[in-house]
Order: sequence, then C-alpha cells, then structure tokens
Amino acid sequence: STGGDPANTDLGFKAVAVSTANEVVVPEGYSSLAFLAWGTPITGSYPEYQADGTNTGADQEQQMGMHHDGVHFFPIDQKAGGNSSTEGLLVMNHEYINQDAIHASGPTNAGDNGGVRPADEVRKEIAAHGVSVVHIKRDTNGTWDIVFGSPFNRRITGNTEMDIRGPVRSYSKLITQYSPDATETRGTLNNCAMGPTPWGTYLAAEENWHGYFANGDTTQPREQTRHGVGSATRYDWELADSGADQYVRFNVTPTGASATDDYRNEANTYGYMVEIDPFTPESKPQKRTALGRFGHEGVIFAPAKEGEPVVCYSGDDSRFEYIYKFVSSQPYYSATAGGYLLDEGTLYVARFNEDGSGDWLALDLDDADFASKVAAAEGTMVGDIQFDGFENQADVLLNTRLAADIAGATPMDRPEWGAVDPNTGEVYFTLTNNTQRTEDQVNAANPNANNATGHIIRWTEQGNDHSATSFDWDIFVFAGDENTETVVDGQVIVSLTEDNMFSSPDGLWFDYNGRLWIQTDNGYLKETFGNDMMLAANPETREIKRFFVGPQGCEVTGVVSTPDVKTMFVNIQHPDGNWPNAAEDRPRDATVIVTKDDGGVIGA
Ligand code: FEO
Ligand code: CA
Ligand code: CA
Ligand code: CA
Repeated sequence: STGGDPANTDLGFKAVAVSTANEVVVPEGYSSLAFLAWGTPITGSYPEYQADGTNTGADQEQQMGMHHDGVHFFPIDQKAGGNSSTEGLLVMNHEYINQDAIHASGPTNAGDNGGVRPADEVRKEIAAHGVSVVHIKRDTNGTWDIVFGSPFNRRITGNTEMDIRGPVRSYSKLITQYSPDATETRGTLNNCAMGPTPWGTYLAAEENWHGYFANGDTTQPREQTRHGVGSATRYDWELADSGADQYVRFNVTPTGASATDDYRNEANTYGYMVEIDPFTPESKPQKRTALGRFGHEGVIFAPAKEGEPVVCYSGDDSRFEYIYKFVSSQPYYSATAGGYLLDEGTLYVARFNEDGSGDWLALDLDDADFASKVAAAEGTMVGDIQFDGFENQADVLLNTRLAADIAGATPMDRPEWGAVDPNTGEVYFTLTNNTQRTEDQVNAANPNANNATGHIIRWTEQGNDHSATSFDWDIFVFAGDENTETVVDGQVIVSLTEDNMFSSPDGLWFDYNGRLWIQTDNGYLKETFGNDMMLAANPETREIKRFFVGPQGCEVTGVVSTPDVKTMFVNIQHPDGNWPNAAEDRPRDATVIVTKDDGGVIGA
C-alpha cells in the first residue's frame, strides 16, 4: 500500500544545517510551499482573507483556523479501499491563537473595557480554534488546491455541538444548563495532536483545555484542581459583552441552586479525544470518554487486526504525567468497525520498571488490583487531593490522572506524540523535556534531572501483542547538543552531531515505509538549536538527519504524507513576523507542502 520500499528506511538526503532564517529550509533537491494559511476561506461563502485583520467572527467560521497542529491526509477513495495520493481530505487541528494577530489592532482587553470583551472578538477567537476538514486535489502540474464547493469542506470550532459517549455519558458530574442529561456539550479546544482511526475517522486531542475555564470559588472540585483550572481564563471569553450562553459557560463558578442552573460542570465535558468523521460532513463530533480525561496530546492506534481488540496509546503532556493505553472490549472487524469500539474497554496506564520491563495497570474498578489500591488510598492524601473514593467507573475516568496516581504509574517527562513502527510494531513516544525533575525524582525511563532537551522512549509489547499487559522498553535517543550520547549496554549507539542535534522532541510519525519523523518544540535554547525543526530517523540503525527547519518563532507541529510518500504536509505553528507572505504584515500559521524535485519518495 505504499510507494516506497518498506525494507529500506535509509536516509538518502543531505542533512540541512541549523537555521535562524525566517524561511523554511529543506534539503537539496527538495522544494517547499506554504498552503492553507490561517484565514484561507474553505467553506460556506468562502469569505476572502483580509490581511488587515478585519475578518469577522462569522468569516472566521468559514476560514482556516490558527495555530495548525496535528494533521492527517485521508485519501478521497479510502472508504472504497482506495489509496489516492492526488486527492483527499486534509484534516488538521488548530491548537490555540495569536490574540494580537487575529484582530485588526489586537484584542480589546476586558480590563480596559469595563470588564467585558466585544462578543464578535470572542466569536472570532473561538472560531479560530478547533479542526478544519479541507478537500484538496493535485492538478496535472503538481499543484495542490482546495476543491471549492466540496461538501466535505468543514470547520469544527470551540462552539460546535458534540455528543458525550462512553462510560462518562450521562454521569451527574457532566450535567449543565445546556445538557441536563449530561449527554452533550459544545466545542473542542486546544486540539494538539490527533490520530486517524482504523475505520477512517479522525480523533482530535484536547490538551491544555483547563486554561479556558475560570472558577472564582476559593475551593474547587478535584476534577478541576488536578488540571490547574484557575480563577481567570486565558482569553476572557466568559466576559463577552453579549452575555450569551455560549460564552458564559466558560465561567465554571457555581452560581445557581443546582448543576442544571449553571455551568459548574462545563470543564468536565473537556479533556477527551474527539472523534470526527470527515467523510460524513453532517456528522456530530463524539467525545470518547473511555479513552480517559487528561491533557491528551494525541493518540496512536496499533495496526487493527480482524477479530482482535482495537488498541490505542495516548500521552498526557504535562510534567510528571503518564502514558495510557486503551484496549477495546469488542473485537475489530473491518466490515463493521466504527467509533462504538472506543466506548467500551479498559484504560491502562504505564509503569516503566527499573529493569527495562514495564506493566500496564488497569484503571478499572472491576480490576482487583486497582480496586484494592483505591480502597487503601481512601481517606489519604493523593498528591494535593484528599481522596474520598470514586463514585463509579465514570468518576474514575473523569479523574483519570488521580486514578493513575493511585495505580502507581511512572511519572514521565511530558509525554507528547506516539508512533507505531509499521515494520516491527514497536511503540515510540517523545518525552519533550522536564526541567522540574530533581535528582531524587529520576527513574530509569526518565533518568535525567533538569531534563531540558528531552528523549524518545520505545517499547515492544509482550509477544508483540498490543493488548498485552506487559512490555520491554528502551530509550531510542537522548536529544541534546552536539556529542549528546545514547548508550546501550555500555556502547555509544548514538552521538549527536551538527547534522542531527535537536531539542524537545514533540511531533512523531512513522511514514508508510517506516522512516521515523521527529519534530521539535524547543521553546528556548534557540541559540544552540536555532529555529524548530524536523528530522528523519532510521529506527533500525538509529541514524538521524535534520531534514527541515521552520521559520522564526515557530514550532514545527504536525506531519503526514500522501500514501505514496511523495507529498508531505508539515504544519508550522505560531510563526513570527510576516511569514509566509512577506507582503503581509502579520504572521499566518500554515501547512508546508514538501516534495522532491524528481518526484521521488521523501526521505529516500
Ligand atoms: Fe500542544 Fe504538548 O503540545
Ligand atoms: Ca505538541
Ligand atoms: Ca510541545
Ligand atoms: Ca504547541
């Protein structure tokens, strides 16, 4: 099903140097082009992008959002078993926004405006979040364009109606004025990475959603405190001057007599993986609660096998948080597979043992080991939380982090993306950095105190069975400056050079031939590493080469290719200055299309 040679994961390009230029750098023999920049009209009446920031909230609801992140290319004929590399649905997340760039002259702050924000500014900001589905096609000259008028073109925003599915659906702690039966909510926010499902849908992750909710009470429930919900929000949406319900809901301070009178539980409807069916434009997004509620970075599915459970992995990107795995109760059959498979199953959390083995710990009250740990923890402090038990399994999932604390999972150095090697089945995860880890907090899987540059861990499930409850792990590579070594059994397996030194791995993706692509989010240490970048790795030899450097200020976020691996889509988030259009005066997040000038396989 690929255009390359699966047995050959050699890196056939010349590494590019670090760069601080305000442009994209790719190897000799490759070209790059910015596409689908923030504000590009993609649906509805296709309102033209206004370079002076004067597009309205309604316009933004029909244009590409901001801060492009995880992205996937669905071949247009995928549902029919096809594998098009010239036409498909490009689906991507818009993680957050540049509030200065999105408005004509910056945001109107509530503090300067009588304690309120203009409602249309808020509407525009909410619309710049979420997910875009764009039908794209390559013409005979090799140029990719939007298919205008396609019924698949769609925006999902921070205000789109969604269903709650899985064990947390109908749970009393999700009751709101909007959904008295706790089955629905509005919007998805801070969508970082994603994962395509084996049945052709897209799961968007809700990562730092806590910053969108405010609780003015001095004490907060554990399902807010464990995530850091504060007394003010990042963008003050709850202060929109219209007082409309869709804005007020971001204030989760209890104000009414009961949960049906206010939005005290609104934050409990966030923190999930959200399933979107890009091939069914009228479909309602589904929040899949069985996969847990935390700061989901993304999700990666193991290859689906007929008659076996569906398995997927998800990291919680926060310092000292965990890596999780979901195993479905029902078996996968390609003819009938669908999102229902994600509604029933077991959520596990990873414990990385000191000897290189690992265990998956079930977070399930029906699991005897977990139930006994929960019973033992009752009445004690778990971290900062006075633990008084779980009401039921829905409560366990609502408080996934707390459940994982009790289970005894291994606190990691900020788990970001995962990837599964298509040739070996090994699972890789980036651990981006953790400068707060102290010497007395190191463990074998996170061995560096003050881990400023991160590492990549990988494991093989017992018997190479993704539903197994134990695994063997090792560290694939330590990121860092030149001469940073990765030592295995006393031997230096990798020593980084000027061609591949990197910091803070974040995005991670195996292409369809088995080359591993590593993207960086190096918020600091720019003097050494320059702009953020993408590298390619041969998983077998651990050869690593820098392939791509982004423009100034950016983070290199999502990556995917067409099935033939001849067109690659690389997302650029929060660029500076006037990238990608020097004639404009504000930065625009964009997707960079990378091709090889001879039309060949990228990376080969
Ligand atoms: Fe949104 Fe963890 O990066
Ligand atoms: Ca990320
Ligand atoms: Ca990151
Ligand atoms: Ca980011």
